[in-house]
Amino acid sequence: MIRKIVSMPGDGIGKTVLPEAIRVLNATGFKAEYINADIGWDFWCSEGNALPKRTIDLLQEHKIGLFGAITSKPKDDAVRELASELQNKGYVYFSPIVGLRQHFNLDICIRPCRSFKGNPLNFIRKDSRGGFTEPIVNTVIFRQNTEGMYGGVEWTNPPKNVREALETHPKMKIFADTPSEELAISTRIVTKKATERIFKAAFEFAKEFGYKNVTVCEKPNVLRETSGMYLKIARQTAKEYPDIKLLDTNIDAQMMWLTKNPEDYGIIVAENMFGDIISDGFAGLIGGLGFACSANIGKEVSVFEPTHGSAPKYQMLNPSIVNPIAMILSACMMLDHIGEKEKADKVRIAIADVVEEGKVRTYDMMKLRGGADVFSKGACTTQEMTDAIIAKL
Ligand code: NAI
Ligand code: MG
Repeated sequence: MIRKIVSMPGDGIGKTVLPEAIRVLNATGFKAEYINADIGWDFWCSEGNALPKRTIDLLQEHKIGLFGAITSKPKDDAVRELASELQNKGYVYFSPIVGLRQHFNLDICIRPCRSFKGNPLNFIRKDSRGGFTEPIVNTVIFRQNTEGMYGGVEWTNPPKNVREALETHPKMKIFADTPSEELAISTRIVTKKATERIFKAAFEFAKEFGYKNVTVCEKPNVLRETSGMYLKIARQTAKEYPDIKLLDTNIDAQMMWLTKNPEDYGIIVAENMFGDIISDGFAGLIGGLGFACSANIGKEVSVFEPTHGSAPKYQMLNPSIVNPIAMILSACMMLDHIGEKEKADKVRIAIADVVEEGKVRTYDMMKLRGGADVFSKGACTTQEMTDAIIAKL
């Protein structure tokens, strides 16, 4: 049986890096048919919908998606770029990747941050004797992807019944004299079910891939209810995994420790916003956006994407300068997910070889300013990086 995979390049450099990942997948001998699906800015402009129903239907049918990146713009700018016949018809722009996460309840976001030996972008640290050490970071962040601070339940000038409900809480007293028009409220809603699901997934991942600890990274001393629920469920879940140690850190302290002992952390679990923050922090230690991959896992459907966006300032450069590794590593996560871990490992080893050898480097790895002149300074093209990885395979 040939597996069908929904390919959603999206906008900007998404259109550049996704085909590169497919070239690598083909080179591993992985047999699949890639079905191109429409998503992103072009479809917002021409149809008033960046996430057409035909794309949702394809994902519903085939379950697995590869996604490049999309371009998002503020509400008013978005409306201005709509096709003239769609203007003033009440179309509202929403981010199609957020839409996908919500529609398919892709509640578990996995963001591995692993350093490759020899990457000039790796974090280094001064040691006590005035020398330097380069810690090998191998941390995987499990970010709750659908609720918490990014759940979208928020108001400026809250309706009367919302305000009245909030005023049943004694801590609202300090806002008693503030007019509603001057109040902005964002909620942090957390459910037991989703929290249990992410901890279960995190501990299972730790077990499968041999990680020694799982850290719950929250702030339960202040966010007593929501972070409190995370901590409680973390402790309950940990009981089922006696060989894996449960660590517990506060998000603020964790950001401080990020550069002190990042090699000590295996899996980290956090709510949506804290997971967003901590995963960017760790990604910075291992090479940044050119290396940061991710998976959005739901019960039925899963979508794999690099963390970076569409980098519009580089989309017109031909040949392309951007680093395809984040996208290729995301495709590896797809292979892991569908039971092709051996092929994924081969690709990861090939990437490690190319990075360590250091002959072929994209502009970001050379710490150059992006632009058409990077090639004359020794940077490789996007396609040359892929070629080098395939050659190692
Ligand atoms: P971005 O991630 O597109 O680019 C930021 C900078 O990071 C780039 O200018 C470039 O210097 C570097 N960069 C990104 N990807 C790279 C790669 N593969 N190789 C080398 N360098 C790379 O973020 P930005 O500029 O804030 O947003 C651009 C557009 O992308 C916006 O419309 C934004 O809404 C959207 N976006 C979409 C995301 C998604 O599709 N999931 C995520 C983040 C932003
Ligand atoms: Mg982010």
